[in-house]
Amino acid sequence: MNKKTHFGFKEVDEKDKSSHVGDVFSSVAGNYDIMNDAMSMGMHRLWKKILVELAGVSQKDIVLDIASGTGDIAKLISQDYPDTDIYMTDINNEMLALGRERSIDEGFSNNTHFCQLSGEAIPFKDNTFDIITIGFGLRNFTDKPAGLKEMRRCLKKNGRLLVLEFSKPTSSLFSKVYDWYSFNILPKLGALLANDSDSYQYLAESIRMHPDQEALKDLIIGSGFDDCKFYNLLNGIVAIHVGYKEQD
Ligand SMILES: C[S@@+](CC[C@H](N)C(=O)[O-])C[C@H]1O[C@@H](n2cnc3c(N)ncnc32)[C@H](O)[C@@H]1O
Repeated sequence: MNKKTHFGFKEVDEKDKSSHVGDVFSSVAGNYDIMNDAMSMGMHRLWKKILVELAGVSQKDIVLDIASGTGDIAKLISQDYPDTDIYMTDINNEMLALGRERSIDEGFSNNTHFCQLSGEAIPFKDNTFDIITIGFGLRNFTDKPAGLKEMRRCLKKNGRLLVLEFSKPTSSLFSKVYDWYSFNILPKLGALLANDSDSYQYLAESIRMHPDQEALKDLIIGSGFDDCKFYNLLNGIVAIHVGYKEQD
């Protein structure tokens, strides 16, 4: 019997999840940036800036950005810290190719390297990176603990992991409005702007299946991190978790 996992609200074979996720991102790639701005009313830009602030980057740091997509986080770090080395990575070739083109067009390719890889099996040596970031990527992993253990392994001692991800609103009224928006407006926006309501239905479903703030904190600590703090943004619709690796 094949092991099962969730893909949004659907149950799928674990071995197939990554290809379903791949189909979603291949389908949305061309409209990804426009849709991000439309869905979040531009707020994702601020959330990513806050993530970079919280990362406490120093010049000369070696940074791994996982699930980079079109490279918003890599761009912010590259521009503010031109002496860092940034590895911009994604499992999906279409998304990464768009990010790479953008880095050349928008002038952040000088200190940026590109690798197609899965955050669940990272092909780098132990203790390589000062900082690892992942924005809106962890939700799509088949095996989140495996991915988090890999991230810890690749961090240097005193390294930090920053996870920006959708989470759970803290107020029940806000939660009701957000549910209505997610299941009524989001798929329609997807249909209107990207001719793709299914992918945005998956987005809404995958957010509901993702661990909430406390559960993700437990998962990060359970994956070997010595400490974890989280910061709620927009009433907890989004949260940033910071995981600390204090020893080898
Ligand atoms: C919602 S996008 C986020 C892109 C970017 N970080 C941002 O915040 O705009 C999620 C990305 O995660 C990537 N992804 C999904 N599963 C992955 C995995 N196992 N390893 C690495 N990347 C993955 C997808 O291909 C997609 O580009």
